Amino acid sequence: MTQDEMKKAVALAAIEYVKDVPIIGVGTGSTANFFIDALADMKHLFDGAVASSVASAERLKSHGIPVYDLNAVDSVPVYVDGADEANAELALIKGGGGALTREKIIAAVAEKFICIADKSKLVPILGGFPLPIEVLPMARSHVGRAMVKLEGDPVYREDFVTDNGNIILDVYNLNITNPERLEQEINNITGVVTNGLFAQRPADVLLLGSEQGVETIIA
Ligand code: 5RP
Repeated sequence: MTQDEMKKAVALAAIEYVKDVPIIGVGTGSTANFFIDALADMKHLFDGAVASSVASAERLKSHGIPVYDLNAVDSVPVYVDGADEANAELALIKGGGGALTREKIIAAVAEKFICIADKSKLVPILGGFPLPIEVLPMARSHVGRAMVKLEGDPVYREDFVTDNGNIILDVYNLNITNPERLEQEINNITGVVTNGLFAQRPADVLLLGSEQGVETIIA
């Protein structure tokens, strides 16, 4: 099975969690794209979606799926999204696609967060994947220096502007043994919009794709 076939398999498995759900939270990235495409086949069964990025909103709309502003819906019963890394507690690193802030907002609202990923994303300790941080442009150097103090190596993501008009610092070489504490610590740095650690609000379910099929992991 190729990586893409694993991504497609977990996306299809996630469909089971959104049957009878009126408003579906939809994430961003190549795995989420497989989920969006799978939703197209059942679009008559739900009212619409809220999207964590402009790119996902456009893809949903291209399938004729209505996209709502998050403020216009009462609740998001289920949110389905990919991840760059996950640990056994289902704490995640997200934001490889730069959509981390909107992803974190929808995850915060969602009653259930289903993470879909291929097996390469499950790791014993988070931090092998550089941690994305969304930063207000004028605070770039300030936040970079603060991350060096936290023993990370920040790299400015060139030629990239988030959907919110901000920049991304990708922080390498963090050995994240306490994800919840680090998430809070980074969010306390002035100028940080949010960081890609999803530990205070981890996933509820991880659907992990491998050659053997789809494994369901619940923290
Ligand atoms: C985007 C994300 C994605 O969920 C993450 O980057 C995983 O992407 P992919 O499914 O393409 O591997 O957080 O901001």
